[in-house]
Amino acid sequence: MFHTDYPYFSSGSSVMREHFENTANKFLEQELIGSDPFIVELGSNDGIMLRTIAKAGVRHLGVEPSGGVAEHARAQGINVLTEFFEATTAAAVRAEYGPADVVYAANTMCHIPYVDSIFAGLDALLTPGGVFVFEDPYLGEIVERTSFDQIYDEHFYFFSATSVDAMARRFGFELVDVQRLTVHGGEVRYTLARAGARAATPAVAELLAEESVRGLHDRDCLARFAAEVGVVRTELIALLHKLKADGATVVGYGATAKSATVINYCGITPDQVRYVVDTTPAKQHRVTPGAHLPVRPAEAFAAPYPDYALLFAWNHAEEIMAKESEFRAGGGKWILYTPNVRVVD
Ligand code: SAM
Ligand code: TMP
Repeated sequence: MFHTDYPYFSSGSSVMREHFENTANKFLEQELIGSDPFIVELGSNDGIMLRTIAKAGVRHLGVEPSGGVAEHARAQGINVLTEFFEATTAAAVRAEYGPADVVYAANTMCHIPYVDSIFAGLDALLTPGGVFVFEDPYLGEIVERTSFDQIYDEHFYFFSATSVDAMARRFGFELVDVQRLTVHGGEVRYTLARAGARAATPAVAELLAEESVRGLHDRDCLARFAAEVGVVRTELIALLHKLKADGATVVGYGATAKSATVINYCGITPDQVRYVVDTTPAKQHRVTPGAHLPVRPAEAFAAPYPDYALLFAWNHAEEIMAKESEFRAGGGKWILYTPNVRVVD
């Protein structure tokens, strides 16, 4: 998956560009304050976060196995190692650059099955007082918003404070802070430090307690989630059938990895959703996995506008709806399916 042609470019969203600029500035203000600090980012992609660090002249290294996106970052003057992060890579980085004050990973830990090797690498790489900060889609939000499309082949883990707390302890670390994030449909940023190195903020105990009260890890809670997912499927299939029968045109917006789950689980065909538009050149003129919906450039959206647009990139809803305001002004309607199926006009 993570090779030269890996098609996901993080910088395609202005909201995400701002999010990562703020993240970098937070590290610069709060963590990278010693003499000659050093930050390593796993899955640095096209340099969306590290470009702010590089501009500030702070020592950094992206560890990014996907050659195409890594090259994009390098072209902006960002230092990137085209490798998978694991124990051996971490040892080599430590030998060449010395210890890191911060290791950061966004939307990357959820893709990596081999946490043992990751934590062995963190142990080798971090300074005694250093932190490992990572953010990923939050199980609590997935359940709350019935966003079952976060569950797809590339997503190996669905973290919660409870699971991260247990994972950290297993490897001699502690969960010392959590922060809720609104991006990508609701995430949590977890901060881990070596056991005993930092006091945990009250937010950690609060989120652990909230998850316990909700029964987030109980069978009943997940069974309710499964039932709600079934309702979304039934309603989305019924809506697409009706629109087809009415002769309305529907296209998909955003050939997201998430959409593969929705399209295949609901059995959506090119007959119902004619094509999917996406700004990513590497996805255009291909087809979606399984169902083979054609993927077209973003310009195809307006030529001519469909009656309905099924928003597969719902996590970027605000940004996309603002950008495509003419679609709605001309009578176009958005179809959303999380937390429930609805038409927005
Ligand atoms: N951090 C960016 C963001 O949040 O937009 C990119 C996230 S992208 C979904 C996941 C990235 O992790 C990809 O660029 C992929 O190449 C990278 N990746 C996958 N396995 C990795 C590993 N073992 N070490 C470092 N990066 C990895
Ligand atoms: P993501 O939900 O994993 O970030 O993927 C978003 C997908 O949607 C990605 O393929 C790019 C695409 N996209 C657009 O086509 N137009 C947009 O305005 C945005 C923000 C994303």
